[in-house]
Amino acid sequence: MSVEVEQARIAYQPLGLLAELTHRCPLGCPYCSNPLSLDQRSSELDASVWARVFGEAAALGVLQVHLSGGEPGARRDLVEIAAAARAAGLYSNLITSGVGITAGTLGKLVEAGLDHVQISIQDSGADSADMIAGYQGAFTRKNALAAEVVRLGLPLTVNVVVHRANIERIPAMVDLALNLGASRVEIAHVQYYGWALKNRAALMPEREQVARAAAEVEELRRLHHGRIVIDAVVPDYYARYPKPCVGGWGRRSLNVNPSGKVLPCHAAEIIPGLEFWNVKQHSLAEIWENSPAFRAFRGDEWMAEPCASCPRREIDFGGCRCQAFALTGDATATDPVCHLSPNHGLVAKLAHGDADVPFVYRRLAPTAAAPVAEITSR
Ligand code: SF4
Ligand code: FES
Repeated sequence: MSVEVEQARIAYQPLGLLAELTHRCPLGCPYCSNPLSLDQRSSELDASVWARVFGEAAALGVLQVHLSGGEPGARRDLVEIAAAARAAGLYSNLITSGVGITAGTLGKLVEAGLDHVQISIQDSGADSADMIAGYQGAFTRKNALAAEVVRLGLPLTVNVVVHRANIERIPAMVDLALNLGASRVEIAHVQYYGWALKNRAALMPEREQVARAAAEVEELRRLHHGRIVIDAVVPDYYARYPKPCVGGWGRRSLNVNPSGKVLPCHAAEIIPGLEFWNVKQHSLAEIWENSPAFRAFRGDEWMAEPCASCPRREIDFGGCRCQAFALTGDATATDPVCHLSPNHGLVAKLAHGDADVPFVYRRLAPTAAAPVAEITSR
């Protein structure tokens, strides 16, 4: 293999696979990263296809699989799927709402080789958390599952999605994560795609709130150093430079959606004209190397100015393609979050929230769960 080919292989080496096992979920989080058009149960891949996909992923060099959704606990064959991840030699992380996985199922998942659990929490108190999740009783069930994860000796990450309805309680949410026995807490400001884009006005915090939150996170890191790892994802709309979304398009990760479509990122379907290949017709290696969607924004040939000649293009890869499209209608544009973008003014205009706008909850179909009333004042 020539040096150039070897360098290219290393530059585009997938390390993580997001396995969206289902779009079904009892919760209705208004910032859900799933697309607005959700896959139905009848189109979901079965466990044997997932097992093949995991084997192909491992052969491609993938190290870690995130068993995600929707709520993966909605799959009756989740234990079989987790066992397949272990059989393929992948480190497996279950990303769960905490609702829909019983202690019994968790025990079986551990026996099947599950390595790690990530549970989302919506707020530090039950009433607000349940209202944000759109599901009464979710908070209590999340706490119970977290306790069980720790009791079984699995590492636990608590994921906190921050927005204007909970941004004032970051210290209390970190305290909750500590009390639950988490080894890591992720403070992730909402990213505005999918349902979050639909709910942008209701979710967007004010600039002062974001600045205060950033200072609080720094203080919390100092205070809890050595007790819990605090990761923070900065809020896009108030940043100076964009994030290196998904580590660069088609460079480090792939998403397989419930029906088998393979996407370079969770929001890629919003970009018109992209052709996504499906694991039912192609191997993961074929898709990674040749599918039109993965090739669309690899490297830097597609970039326009100012990215094309910017020294940061190897750092942030021009930002997020989906955000560039959502805000400008052009997926090859510089992410408008970048202050060098000619469209940066758009972001400033949109960076205002409205506490009186109700959430539009994410729902797949009418559910037997107990959704709470829409929030009208936060
Ligand atoms: Fe990144 Fe493009 Fe902005 Fe440069 S101009 S910092 S590459 S988004
Ligand atoms: Fe698609 Fe950022 S979410 S590239």
